[in-house]
Amino acid sequence: MKKLVVSFVFCVLSAVMLHAQQLSPHWSRQGNAMQLVVDGRPVILLAGELGNSSASSAEDIGRIFPKLRRMGLNAVLVPVYWDLIEAEEGRFDFTLVDEVIRQARQNDLKVVLLWFGAWKNSMSCYAPLWFKKDSKKYPRCRTQEGKPLEIASPFSEDVFQADSRAFERLMAHVAETDGREHTVIMVQVENEIGMLEDARDYSEQANRLFAAPVPEALMEYLEDNKKTLHPWMLDKWQKAGGRTEGNWAEVFGADIYTDEIFMAWHYATYVERMVRKGREAYRLPMYVNAAMNSRNRKPGEYPSAGPLAHLIDVWHCAAPGIDLLAPDLYDAGFKDWTARYRLHNNPLFIPEIRLEPNDGVRAFYVFGEHDGIGFSPFSIESAPDSPDYPLAESYRTLRELMPLIVKYQGKGAMRGLLFDQRDKERVVRWDKNTTLVCRHFFTLPWDARATDGSLWPEGGGLVIRLADDEYIVAGSGIVIEFKHPDEWSGQVSQKLGEDGFAATGGNDAGKTVWKETERIGLGPVDEVSVNPDGTLKYIRRLNGDQTHQGRHVRIGVDGFSILHVRLYRYE
Ligand code: DGJ
Repeated sequence: MKKLVVSFVFCVLSAVMLHAQQLSPHWSRQGNAMQLVVDGRPVILLAGELGNSSASSAEDIGRIFPKLRRMGLNAVLVPVYWDLIEAEEGRFDFTLVDEVIRQARQNDLKVVLLWFGAWKNSMSCYAPLWFKKDSKKYPRCRTQEGKPLEIASPFSEDVFQADSRAFERLMAHVAETDGREHTVIMVQVENEIGMLEDARDYSEQANRLFAAPVPEALMEYLEDNKKTLHPWMLDKWQKAGGRTEGNWAEVFGADIYTDEIFMAWHYATYVERMVRKGREAYRLPMYVNAAMNSRNRKPGEYPSAGPLAHLIDVWHCAAPGIDLLAPDLYDAGFKDWTARYRLHNNPLFIPEIRLEPNDGVRAFYVFGEHDGIGFSPFSIESAPDSPDYPLAESYRTLRELMPLIVKYQGKGAMRGLLFDQRDKERVVRWDKNTTLVCRHFFTLPWDARATDGSLWPEGGGLVIRLADDEYIVAGSGIVIEFKHPDEWSGQVSQKLGEDGFAATGGNDAGKTVWKETERIGLGPVDEVSVNPDGTLKYIRRLNGDQTHQGRHVRIGVDGFSILHVRLYRYE
């Protein structure tokens, strides 16, 4: 009898624990995508990050969060300031964190907390004054000429102890106050870590470690993962001779990029210890963000050694507890940057991007093309408080689409589209029978803004293949023709008028060389909404002028919509 009771209690406890585990935010793999699971369901984060000083007053938080709800966000990235939670050493005040959680719950938002601890944009500006003033106990990094910087040393155990104690207390507080409700779903450890002015720290301790052998763990990692190393890292190592032992300069060559690798190892080692300490208090997904190595800048001109794509192997080896490296995007070349961070070993999450109207379509691209986890313009509270703001419209549409997006993530059934005035066309050869010729909406010349010198807003969206010859097309400012690959000659024949007739006489408009092949026609094209269970709800049938009399599907630049497209084939 006693045995029976014990095993019954054991079963109940296991079930309760399993249930709690399933409900706490975690990662799950689907096909070749990682999904963030929140409240038992995979989600995409339609988010925004608060400006740096916007979570330092309860009044501001109370004013901003309802606006974020109106904008359609489902998550907000919020800084936690070390100097405010531990103004006096060892005494913690989590009033602001509590207010963030309270307001988030009231406004139906999930929260990603950003630990502005030892480093924020490289610097230690968010460290409390008692820490800053005691530079003996809490030493700084130094330039080659010996100048101390306001960058706490990652080599100092005292720095780590002070920073990690506060971080651990924060995590324990969140566990205590939110461990059941899971309003807080993820944590960013520090902010844009990296060394400035020089590529590495030149303090005595750093110099000593730089002259010491490269840690065996890193050497083994590079050898064991040779086939999948980031091409930059493999190349750097091989060009230096591919040695498997030696000091940093011997193994990687003596230059500032080696300085950067060295520094990355130590930053990442520090971060891993932070993650472990934080997770002892509360287990949540954790990530780090990076300032980009853009505009021809060299390490030290950008924050050297941050969690950058070319350093992913060093970061992975030293900080396996970090779930992803996330790019902060403020530069031109959005598509290129996103591709650099969606790697086989790194899901794409964009915690920061410059706030601008084009973000609306860019969010679609991130989810459609890269199975993104989330998208989050910076200083989101500065966006216009209007339901017509493109990001608000985009998020409303993506929220509807979420059940379909998460269903198809990782299965190769989605593509993202993004066009501007120069990059206006993408031909997607989906399979041997189907090519999608996708373009910016303004490649159709019928809207005056297409040709009157106006700057084109970016157009973009996503395409989901639901079945053979059945697609969802969603977004803004796009037009798509479906062709049999044998028929698509690469020729654009846009000289037809909006009615589908030749715009002027004698120009052979619309005629292409016919190669005897199956043709694809448009069946029903319906504008739809998506129900929470992923089924589609008919809004209206689009035909005639709205499909160029059956030649294409399109969504104008002035709004977002979702189309359900069915094709047929004829000979
Ligand atoms: C990137 C940082 O991570 C943010 O905190 C902020 O400083 C922005 N840059 C620019 O304002």
